[in-house]
Amino acid sequence: MAARRSLVDRLQRRQFSTPASSAPSSIAPFAFAFDIDGVLLHVSEPIPGAAAALQHLHRLNIPFILLTNGGGRYEADRVADLQRRLGLDLEGSSDTHDTDCAGPLPVLSTANFVQSHTPFRELLDNAAGLDAEAAAAGDKESGGSIGGLRDQTILVTGSDAARIRIIAEQYGFRSVITPADILAAYPAIYPFDPLLKSVYAETARPLPKPLLLEGGKLASDASAAPFSPSDLDDSKYLRIAATFVFNDPRDWALDIQILTDVLQARQGFLGTFDPASLSAEGSEGGTRLFFSNSDLLWATTYHLPRFGQGAFAAAVAGVWAQMASSEQPPLLSPEGGRSTLLGKPHAATYRFAERTLLRYRASLLEAHGSKASSATKEAPLQTVYMIGDNPESDIAGANQFSSAHGTDWCSVLVETGVYDPVRDGKNSDYLRHRPRAIVGDVGAAVRWALQREGWPADF
Ligand code: G3P
Ligand code: MG
Repeated sequence: MAARRSLVDRLQRRQFSTPASSAPSSIAPFAFAFDIDGVLLHVSEPIPGAAAALQHLHRLNIPFILLTNGGGRYEADRVADLQRRLGLDLEGSSDTHDTDCAGPLPVLSTANFVQSHTPFRELLDNAAGLDAEAAAAGDKESGGSIGGLRDQTILVTGSDAARIRIIAEQYGFRSVITPADILAAYPAIYPFDPLLKSVYAETARPLPKPLLLEGGKLASDASAAPFSPSDLDDSKYLRIAATFVFNDPRDWALDIQILTDVLQARQGFLGTFDPASLSAEGSEGGTRLFFSNSDLLWATTYHLPRFGQGAFAAAVAGVWAQMASSEQPPLLSPEGGRSTLLGKPHAATYRFAERTLLRYRASLLEAHGSKASSATKEAPLQTVYMIGDNPESDIAGANQFSSAHGTDWCSVLVETGVYDPVRDGKNSDYLRHRPRAIVGDVGAAVRWALQREGWPADF
């Protein structure tokens, strides 16, 4: 409590010490979305000028969010780590995801932070919550929810599936299983054993229900029971309602085997086989597969880019293409209907980011004494400056996004990450997605935008 008090005192002191002449009195009709890797940080080290740019915006009450394709840690933990790395840490400010807090807000909190898997929360109460149609219905407040995944069994994987399970549970999902749980209960599902005892046994939990082993040949003691539709009973057998890839898996072989098993199962009953799943039309009512990010490559300390989650998704889709009819639409295409791709540049992530930014902007306005509903009417959000280093994700996504509120997402590319100005200078085909501006770094990007808007850019 004392820590919270001192946080508030310090924030209030900081606001009162802001020179009144440095900010226009009106509400900023613009905001920012910052990529992290290659914009604010490079291989976990802060990029010079990043913290000063965020603090300057915060002093002027100009809203911003961080929007990253990274993931694998709980939002509050990642935010605390970023606060420390960027030197923005304020005691007591770790988790303010519920944005109903009155009073000044910290520079960075979970309220203005979106990582690749943050949108999965939307599915707790509406399994179609990330679809374009559901988003349009939600914007019109017309309801139409089709029920959520909160109490259904979901399968999750990622770099550390045991940790990913905890994150999913922190989000509110109540029945979360991992590949380790399946492997420990049914070792024959993956007949190559090197990691079962050394890795998976430690993190496996008992499955909530047994698998329905159609035909019975997988189970050592089973007789070849013929399948009957009445067997599809989720009070007796495990049914996987959705599968989530939170970040880059490590054991591709096991995960591709299990995800493929899920894709060919009857209505998510792992252990069954639906012949229609491989047909040109595909099966009805099969489990949906969510990938949180589709970056094929990303920059690391190695001199050449390394595979990201997009490479894993391509591998799953490649194996599936070998199994399914050549007439079936590709697994990762919207026409395929089985998978949902999130992360930049996908529209579902930009829709989620815009909702987060509008909510954050309203709480910032209220924290500074404006009534959010009338203030946002008086000063609607006209422009969001998307500051990114990756033309294929940050810039492509901002350029392609069509805001339901008519907000212009203005792309600004920096030279501190993936983008290579030398290659761009030599090859006119290098940059497939042209930004509105190319500047040196995040400080220059913020100055460019503020000058364009006629706001103080002196930091
Ligand atoms: O896909 C790798 C991820 O770390 C990229 O992060 O912040 O550049 O979107 P970011
Ligand atoms: Mg980046």
